[in-house]
Amino acid sequence: MSLVKKPLVEAAFGREPDRQPIWFLRQAGRYLPEYMKIRSTVSFTELCASPELASEVTLQPLRRYDVDAAIIFSDILIPPTAMGQELTFGKGHGPQLSNTVRSADDLARLKSPDVEKDLGYVGDAIQLTKKGLSPTQTMIGFAGAPFTVATYMIEGSGSKVFTEVKKLLYGNLDTFKGLLELLTGVTIDYLSMQVKAGADCLMLFDTWANQLTAFDYHQHVLPCMKLITDEIKSRHPEIPLIYYPGQGSDLHRELLGLNVDVIAVDWRTRLNEAIANLKKLNMDYSVQGNLDPQALVGNEGFVRARVRQVMENATEARGHIFNVGHGLLPHLDPESLSWVIDEIRN
Ligand code: CP3
Repeated sequence: MSLVKKPLVEAAFGREPDRQPIWFLRQAGRYLPEYMKIRSTVSFTELCASPELASEVTLQPLRRYDVDAAIIFSDILIPPTAMGQELTFGKGHGPQLSNTVRSADDLARLKSPDVEKDLGYVGDAIQLTKKGLSPTQTMIGFAGAPFTVATYMIEGSGSKVFTEVKKLLYGNLDTFKGLLELLTGVTIDYLSMQVKAGADCLMLFDTWANQLTAFDYHQHVLPCMKLITDEIKSRHPEIPLIYYPGQGSDLHRELLGLNVDVIAVDWRTRLNEAIANLKKLNMDYSVQGNLDPQALVGNEGFVRARVRQVMENATEARGHIFNVGHGLLPHLDPESLSWVIDEIRN
C-alpha cells in the first residue's frame, strides 16, 4: 500500500485532501480531436475491447489537463455484451442492444458471464492505464447500476418514457426482479475484478433511477444497490464508492443505508441544498459535481464565474470532488476545461 495520498480518495472519505480533486464525467471522448482520430479507425465496441486503445484514450485527457483521476474508457453497456446481447451504435442513434429482455424466456436465455474471462479486457486496460498515472492520481473503475443497465437491456435503446421497462415492472414483476438480481451479481463480480486490476475508486452510474416512482426505487432498486455496496465494501474497504442517481435529487431521501462514500449530484440541483438536505437526512456523504457541462459553451469569464459558484456552494460539504453534473458533450471546446482547472487551482 502506497503512502502517497490521493486527493480524490481523501475527499471521498471526508478527510482533508492536499488539493481540490477535479475530474470530468466523459473526460475521454468526442470533444477531443485525438480521441476522434483513434475512433475514426475502430468502432466504439472495438475501442472498448482493446486494452491498448482503451488505455490510450483514457490517458488522453490527462496529457492535456491537470486532473486528479482517470476513468477507465468503457461503457455501462459492455457487460450485457457478455450476457448475449449485441451492442451497436447506429449513425445518429444512441446505443442499441439486440435480444431485448421482455419475458421470462428472454431472461432465461441470458448468459451469466464469467467476468474474468469475458470482460477481463477491461481489467487489462486498467492495468495498462495505471502505468501512466502519477501516485497522486486516482484510477476510477465503474459500472452501470443494475436498474439503469436493465433499462437498455429491456428497451433495446435509450427511451423517453420507458414503456417496456414499465410493462415489465408493473406487469411481470418476477422477470423484472430476476433481471435486476442477475445484474446485481454481475455488477459485484465486475467491480471486484476492476479493483483486483488496480482501480482505486469505483463509480456506479444510475442515470435513469429518476424514471421510477420513489416507492418502486425503494422497493426494488435500493435493495440491489445495498447488496452491491455492502459486498464491495466488505471485500475492498479501502476503495471509495461514488453513486450517481441521475437527476435524482428527489431520490436522496431514499438513499439512507446505502454503503457509499460520495453522491454525485446532477447539475440541475443547487449543490449547497443537496448538501444541506443529505445532512438533514443524517446521510454522511461527500459530494461530487456539479457544473452544468453546457456552461462550458460560455466565454472564459462566464465559465470561471460558474466554477466559483459551484465551489462556493460546496463549502459545507464533508468532502467535495469537483466535476460536471453530467457527461461532457462532443461540441465543447477543449480549451474551456483549462479555464475550469485554472480557476480552481489558482
Ligand atoms: O470518460 C468517461 O467518462 C468514461 C467512459 C464512459 C462512457 N460512457 C464512454 C462513452 C462512461 C463512464 C460512460 C457511462 C455511460 N454510458 C452512461 C452513464 C452516464 C451517463 O452519461 O448518464 C450511460 C447512460 C451510457 C450509455 C451510452 N453510451 C450512451 C447513452 C451513449 C451515446 C451517447 C452519446 O453521447 O452519443 C454511449 C456511447 C459512449 N460512451 C460514447 C463514449 C465516449 C460516445 C461513443 C462514440 O465514440 O461514438
